Amino acid sequence: MALNRRSAISTNLLAILLMLGSTNVSIVECRRHVLDGSDVTYAAINCRKHTAFLTDFGGNGDGQTSNTEVFRAAVLNLSQFENDGGSQLIVPPGRWLTGSFNLTSHFTLFIQFGAVVLASQDEGDYPLIKPLPSYGSGRDGPGGRFSSLIGGSHLTDVVITGDNGTIDGQGSIWWKKFHKKKLKNTRPYLIEPMYSNQIQISNLTLINSPSWFVHPVYSSDIIIQDLTILAPVDSPNTDGINPDSCKNIKIQDVFVVSGDDCVAVKSGWDEYGIKFGMPTEQAIIRRLTCISPDSAVIALGSEMSGGIKNIRAEDIRAINSESAVRIKTGPGRGAYVTDIFVDKMTLHTMKYVFWTTGAYGQHPDPGYDPKALPKVDRINYRNVVAEDVKMAGNMGGIEGDPFTGFCLSNVTIGLSEKPKKLQWNCTDVSGVSSNVTPEPCDALVDKGSIECEYPSDPVPIDTVQLKTCSFSTKKQILTSSLVHHLGYFSQTLWLVATFDAMLKP
Ligand SMILES: *[C@@H]1O[C@H](CO)[C@@H](O)[C@H](O)[C@H]1NC(C)=O
Ligand SMILES: *[C@@H]1O[C@H](CO)[C@@H](O)[C@H](O)[C@H]1NC(C)=O
Ligand SMILES: *[C@@H]1O[C@H](CO)[C@@H](O)[C@H](O)[C@H]1NC(C)=O
Ligand SMILES: *[C@@H]1O[C@H](CO)[C@@H](O)[C@H](O)[C@H]1NC(C)=O
Ligand SMILES: *[C@@H]1O[C@H](CO)[C@@H](O)[C@H](O)[C@H]1NC(C)=O
Ligand SMILES: *[C@@H]1O[C@H](CO)[C@@H](O)[C@H](O)[C@H]1NC(C)=O
Repeated sequence: MALNRRSAISTNLLAILLMLGSTNVSIVECRRHVLDGSDVTYAAINCRKHTAFLTDFGGNGDGQTSNTEVFRAAVLNLSQFENDGGSQLIVPPGRWLTGSFNLTSHFTLFIQFGAVVLASQDEGDYPLIKPLPSYGSGRDGPGGRFSSLIGGSHLTDVVITGDNGTIDGQGSIWWKKFHKKKLKNTRPYLIEPMYSNQIQISNLTLINSPSWFVHPVYSSDIIIQDLTILAPVDSPNTDGINPDSCKNIKIQDVFVVSGDDCVAVKSGWDEYGIKFGMPTEQAIIRRLTCISPDSAVIALGSEMSGGIKNIRAEDIRAINSESAVRIKTGPGRGAYVTDIFVDKMTLHTMKYVFWTTGAYGQHPDPGYDPKALPKVDRINYRNVVAEDVKMAGNMGGIEGDPFTGFCLSNVTIGLSEKPKKLQWNCTDVSGVSSNVTPEPCDALVDKGSIECEYPSDPVPIDTVQLKTCSFSTKKQILTSSLVHHLGYFSQTLWLVATFDAMLKP
C-alpha cells in the first residue's frame, strides 16, 4: 500500500522533473544565439591577449544581487595584464546590478547583446569625490560629486563596447531628488574617463543616466560611435555626450533622445575653468541624430572657460529640438569660442535654427569675474535645410563684446504654421550671409554668392584604424552550463527530499 503510494508520487515527481527539464531546454534555446560558443568579433583601437567573463568573478545577473565588488575585483584582477597584452572583461547576457567602478589601462569592457549593466540606485554605491578642478563646484550644488557609474583616471587605451548591450543608469530616483532639491552632492554621470587618452566608447545602448551620459574630461584621442542614447525628454540634465577640456575627438553615428543637449562641448566653469585653462579642441561630430525638444542639438558651452576651438559638425539631423548648434556663454566665462564649422544640417520642427546667447547665467560661486568676457569669432554654418521652424535666428552677443565672424551660406528655412513675427533678432553680432531664406538681419551682410568655410584637411583622429578583435563564448558556456546543471541537480535533490519528507508517516 505504502509502496504503491510512493510509486504514484514518484511518477508525479518524474512528471514535474520532466516539466522543469523542458523549461530549461527552452531557456537554453533562447540563449543559443548569444551563447553558442562561436566567436564574437568587434572593431576596436586595440585587441587584448587575456579574456575573462564577469561570471568568473562570481557575478550574478539576476538584476537583484549587487555586483559592485565583483566589477571592482574583476578590474583589479585584470589590471595585472596592463603590460602583458591587455585584457577584456565580457559582460554576458543578464541584468548586472552594480554601483560605481573604475576601469584600468589596456582594457576592454565588452557588454554582450542581452546584457544590461544596471546602475544601483543607492547613493552609498557612488563614492563621493571632489568637484572637478575646472569647475570648482559640483554642477548640482556646492558639495562634492558622486563618482560616475563607470570611471577611471590617468588611463590609456580603454574601450567600452559591445554588440549593442545596454547600460541603464536607472536615473528616475536621481531626477526626483534633483527636482525636490534634495541633493547635497552632484549626481553621478554614466561614463566618465578622466585624465586619460586613447578611449573608445561604441556599439552600446545607454539609457536613463542620472545626469550627463558620456563625459570625457581632461582626455584626448577619443572615439565615440554607434551609440543609442535614450532618456525621457523631460529628464533633467541628461546631456548625451559632453567632451570637456578634451582634444582630438570623434563622435559619429550617434542617436540621442534626451532632456538636455544631445552633445555639449565644454571646458570648465568661470574662474576655475579660466585658471585650469584647458580647451576642448579638434573635434568632429558627424551623423548625429538628435531629439531634444527643450535643448540644443549641439551646444558650445555654457561652461567654456578653458576655450573651445576648431570644432566641426557635419551631417547633423534633428527632429523636434529647440535649436541646432548653439553658443551659450556670458560675462564671467572668459576664454573663447572660435573656428566652428558646420556643414549639412537637416532639421525638422525647431524653435530656432540659429541661437547664440551672451547672457547665460549660472555661476559656480559669487567669486567669478564679470569682466571676464568671452571672445566669439569665426562661426560658420553652410548647407542647412530646416522645416517647421518658429524663428530663424535669435542671435545675441554681449554689449561691448560683440560676437563676430559669423558666416551663413545656403540656408533654407521653412516656417511653422504660427511663426514668430520677428524672424531674425541680431543683437551685438556681426558677420556675412549668402543665399539665406528667410532674408537675414542686416548685421549678417549679404555677400551674394559665397560659400562659408569648411576645412578640407582630415581630422587627426580619423586616421586611427580600428582592428578586428574577438573572443570565444565557449568557456562561458562550459561555466554557465555547469552552474546551470549544478542548480538543476540541487533543485532535484531538494524536490526529492521534500517529497521524501511528505511520505514519512
Ligand atoms: C585573479 O588573478 C590571479 C593571478 O594573480 C589568478 O590566479 C586568479 O585566478 C584570478 N582570479 C579570478 C577570479 O580569475
Ligand atoms: C575611481 O577613481 C577615482 C579617481 O582616481 C577615485 O577617486 C575613486 O575613488 C575611484 N572609485 C572607486 C570605486 O574605486
Ligand atoms: C558596431 O556597429 C557597427 C555600425 O553599426 C556595425 O557595423 C558593427 O557590426 C557593430 N559591431 C558589433 C560588435 O556589434
Ligand atoms: C540597439 O538597440 C537600440 C535599443 O533597443 C535600438 O534602438 C538600436 O536600433 C539598436 N542598434 C543596432 C545597431 O542594432
Ligand atoms: C545647399 O544645401 C543643400 C542641403 O545640404 C544641398 O543639397 C545643396 O546641394 C546645397 N546647394 C549648394 C549650391 O551647395
Ligand atoms: C532681441 O534679443 C535681445 C538680446 O538677445 C533681447 O534683449 C530683445 O528683447 C530681443 N528682441 C525681441 C523683439 O525679441
